[in-house]
Amino acid sequence: MTEARPVPGRETLGETEAAFQIRIDGQTGATGRPLPEFPVPAPLTSHGPARIIAMCNQKGGVGKTTTTINLGAALAELGRRVLLVDFDPQGALSVGLGINVNELDVTVYNLLVERGHDVRQVIQHTRVEGLDVLPANIDLSAAEVQLVGEVAREQILARVLRPVLDDYDVVMVDCQPSLGLLTVNALTAAHGVIIPLECEFFAMRGVALLIETIEKITDRLNPRLQVDGILATMYDGRTLHSKEVVASVVDHFGDQVFHTVISRTVKFPDASLAAEPLTTYDGAHKGAEAYRQLARELIARGGAA
Ligand SMILES: Nc1ncnc2c1ncn2[C@@H]1O[C@H](COP(=O)(O)OP(=O)(O)O)[C@@H](O)[C@H]1O
Ligand SMILES: [Mg+2]
Repeated sequence: MTEARPVPGRETLGETEAAFQIRIDGQTGATGRPLPEFPVPAPLTSHGPARIIAMCNQKGGVGKTTTTINLGAALAELGRRVLLVDFDPQGALSVGLGINVNELDVTVYNLLVERGHDVRQVIQHTRVEGLDVLPANIDLSAAEVQLVGEVAREQILARVLRPVLDDYDVVMVDCQPSLGLLTVNALTAAHGVIIPLECEFFAMRGVALLIETIEKITDRLNPRLQVDGILATMYDGRTLHSKEVVASVVDHFGDQVFHTVISRTVKFPDASLAAEPLTTYDGAHKGAEAYRQLARELIARGGAA
């Protein structure tokens, strides 16, 4: 990290000057901090056990599903074995990976509420090498009510995933937009949480409640849980507004904010319609590159093998 070099007699300008120096080096990232290089990690020589990451924000439309799909695909490109868990009854993750969710007899729902299923039989391969998905559909909307009376109701997803953890390097759980029992299950199973935040007014509204929920779960159910990072999404570098939102998020959360920022581009919904990650739909697009950088950043931070 480049530190603000104090200029005698111009202390108040120190920060601006440091920012200027970094900029002429061409290294300031969209978060306003010096942008480190994230090297391509060495290939893995063996696989598993997986680190589990919950993609969480109780606000909808902030990029959870898009991030799960594209970060997952980018990690798979790096040779990581990746399982994506669709934990939203809308099934957008499954659909976005080409699965016909209405035709599924058995989904993550059945694994949660019924005994005797084999999770391996429910997992599907996607067209991306190394990227698998545990699909969901609207059936999952009944799970929350059904699980309330269960013993250890917060730990059911952890139990469902346990038999396949050695098969994967990363498991990512795409949460629904709520802080209900399904999300609590995801946070209880997880080692880490990624919080996508849309670069919009009120992006931070609700984040305090999410952090409070994460802290409660760390206290009571899952002491290993960490915040892996906060990800600014739908960034528009042409607007002062996006820059201000990112600056305030960095002000608030400091180093927890990923250096990688995801720009707003219609290519993401286009790729979803084509039921593919952007990394394969238009692999050279800067949105795909951003998720590749995020994958390398996550690995550099220790958030994935
Ligand atoms: N960086 C982006 N730029 C433009 N549109 C995006 C971006 N990320 C996601 N979207 C679109 O915004 C909508 C909501 O994103 P999604 O990932 O489904 O959010 P969530 O899972 O948090 O509800 C989707 O239509 C998606 O294609
Ligand atoms: Mg979603």
